[in-house]
Amino acid sequence: MDTQNSAVYQVVSALLEDLPRERAQLLPALWRVAESEGYLSQDAMEAVSKILGVPSAEVFGVASFYSLFEGEEGRVPVYICTDVMCALQGAQNLKDAAEKSAVNRPIAVKESACLGQCDHAPAAWIGGKVLRRASPEEVKTAVTEVRHD
Ligand code: FES
Repeated sequence: MDTQNSAVYQVVSALLEDLPRERAQLLPALWRVAESEGYLSQDAMEAVSKILGVPSAEVFGVASFYSLFEGEEGRVPVYICTDVMCALQGAQNLKDAAEKSAVNRPIAVKESACLGQCDHAPAAWIGGKVLRRASPEEVKTAVTEVRHD
């Protein structure tokens, strides 16, 4: 594929226009594309790879490692990092807060492996945004604001 001239590349490029071109933006970029397009195609992942300068194998690996793009029967996933650093900084409290806010809503609270935010633990990924040094109150608010239409 001539990546930079493809329609998919143009769409992905527009979606990521305001993101810094750096590896640290890989997760937010993948989330944004998947949320906008409804799924994450191979061409879209290749476009993300090119735009952020991250090897495509790493892009594919991250997408599958986090299981971010599994269909979940209409439920919007919310991720709470429960890896070591976040566990030590109160991840369980964040998860409890997220689950309370998700009651009776089409939201699936999921545990996540490290989100790459260990210096800012505990972290969560809600509504396409990474929350750093998150408090249960911030998580509750963010889950309440998740769109699920
Ligand atoms: S352990 Fe949670 S962000 Fe790394």
